[in-house]
Amino acid sequence: MSPKNPIQIAPSLLASDLSCLKDEVQALEKAGADVLHFDIMDGHFVPNITFGPTVLESVRKHTKLPFDAHLMISDADKYLDEFARVGCSWISVHVEACPHIQRTLTRIRELGMKAGVAINPGTSLFSLESVVKHCDFILVMSVNPGFGGQKFIPPMLERVRELKKNLMGTSVKIQMDGGIKLENMGEVAQAGVDIAVVGTGLFSSKDYASQISKLRTAAERP
Ligand code: DX5
Ligand code: ZN
Repeated sequence: MSPKNPIQIAPSLLASDLSCLKDEVQALEKAGADVLHFDIMDGHFVPNITFGPTVLESVRKHTKLPFDAHLMISDADKYLDEFARVGCSWISVHVEACPHIQRTLTRIRELGMKAGVAINPGTSLFSLESVVKHCDFILVMSVNPGFGGQKFIPPMLERVRELKKNLMGTSVKIQMDGGIKLENMGEVAQAGVDIAVVGTGLFSSKDYASQISKLRTAAERP
């Protein structure tokens, strides 16, 4: 059996100091983050409102790290071209929010980005059955989306294990998002997560490099 690839760390900028986003993205790149996760919320699909493509465009030139936009919005189709234009490499859309999900994922790929499908804790995995071949990654929500700093929902680990089994032989990756921190990083990695989104579990420390390295160690030695 080949050794498992190391887990990728995707800081969620929602928990960063948004008053100096340029400094934050530069510090995260220096600290060894793999990809930057941007939580896009519209106040409709989720109760909260955050930021949109204009903000991503303004920081795009300050880092070489890939941008991962997690769209928690009702009308994702309307904004895909714009997120591509401002330099996103990965986009995830919610299966609960997209009535024509295969079409949406196909469009993301046509625009040259990796297509992800996100699933809420309360949504059955059956909703992904006919979608897997249209996506590059599945984003398993381990909290109900809308806010940073929520408590991890442990049964979502079983969900990852089940998905991992079903995805065997495909190149589809599993991303997990919500409530991931040092304490549960080992279990998260062990379950089969390829990309861990970490918000408050990273930004609660002032030393991003040291916290990222601790998270990696926790992932390797559960
Ligand atoms: C929740 C967001 C998450 C969240 C992660 O709606 O999708 O990315 O901000 O933050 P923590 O790690 O603090 O739960
Ligand atoms: Zn997210």
